[in-house]
Amino acid sequence: MTYQEVLQAARTYSGPYCKACPVCNGRACGSTMPGPGAKGSGTVAIRNYEAWQNVCLNMDTICENGPVDTAFTFFGERYDLPVFAGPVGAVKLHYGDKFTDMEYNEILVDACAKAGIAAFTGDGTDPTVFDAASKAIGRNGGKGIPTVKPWDKDTLFAKLDAAKASGAKVFAMDIDAAGLPFLKGLNPPAGSKTVAELREVIEYAGVPFIIKGIMTVKGAKKALEAGAAGIVVSNHGGRVQDGVPSTAAVLPAIADAVKGQMVIMVDGGIRSGVDVCKALALGADACILARPYVTAVYGGGAEGVKVLTDKLKGELQDTMAMCGVHSLKEISRDMIF
Ligand SMILES: Cc1cc2nc3c(=O)[nH]c(=O)nc-3n(C[C@H](O)[C@H](O)[C@H](O)COP(=O)(O)O)c2cc1C
Repeated sequence: MTYQEVLQAARTYSGPYCKACPVCNGRACGSTMPGPGAKGSGTVAIRNYEAWQNVCLNMDTICENGPVDTAFTFFGERYDLPVFAGPVGAVKLHYGDKFTDMEYNEILVDACAKAGIAAFTGDGTDPTVFDAASKAIGRNGGKGIPTVKPWDKDTLFAKLDAAKASGAKVFAMDIDAAGLPFLKGLNPPAGSKTVAELREVIEYAGVPFIIKGIMTVKGAKKALEAGAAGIVVSNHGGRVQDGVPSTAAVLPAIADAVKGQMVIMVDGGIRSGVDVCKALALGADACILARPYVTAVYGGGAEGVKVLTDKLKGELQDTMAMCGVHSLKEISRDMIF
């Protein structure tokens, strides 16, 4: 299958809201929620995408002509490239009937591990979804990151117990989910957490813990203080708060504040290996792509995941070669124009 064929097939299968656009830039879906759009005006997802397009790279064309290595080590696991599939929950609600969350996660986790990357998996009110995703990650040797919502303590601890038993080795929490319209007034209850509350959760988890949904230096420092091993610079693709900056705009200052003290990941509108290279140059250690991997699964199942991952890898290798770097550790801020 080619990437174009994956997109073409996804147009038939991804429900009434997602148009599986040639580039997933937030325009066609706008503020469609339910659906893959963004909250309120719907402009934050567009801003995320455009911000990467406005970052330019410096070529360095007089350099050694050697192979380019995109290998990335993440808490002891080696991956082919610094890219993860993002957590996406309630796929039936947002992308139509083709898959349940459980079916979607099974395909995604397995296919990502086979394609040389790993998937973050989503969470929701149905406890079996998180449980099954954690088990799929366990079956794939711990290659994947179960991402729990900021529930009340009892619910959280029960989910973490199940995730630990399944063999997952790194956990995450989308702390910003407190802003999701779907999560208001639910049972079990979910909402914001203080540094002390987060620390308790992280200590209980007993494995490297990533906090997703950090958009400021202040937030990154709080995550560090709570004992997080990593953060995802993310505005949830615009789904939790309207009127916020793009992730590309806030990343450099956050990286300046906490780089080397924790793993820094970033998501939001990253759509190509060129964008991945830009994100690393601005200070990220790795990137997450969420909506594009949904399209890949809906359009091509496991093969779609491989097609997208190979495409990203080729683009990243090409960009690194043209910028005169041969390994991820050589990527630096001075590559940005
Ligand atoms: C339909 C949908 C469902 C999502 N569900 C989750 C979720 O369960 N947990 C989570 O951490 N993020 C969730 N996200 C946010 C994504 O993981 C990601 O942060 C966001 O979409 C930005 O990345 P992107 O522009 O590559 O899609 C969801 C996003 C979408 C579009």
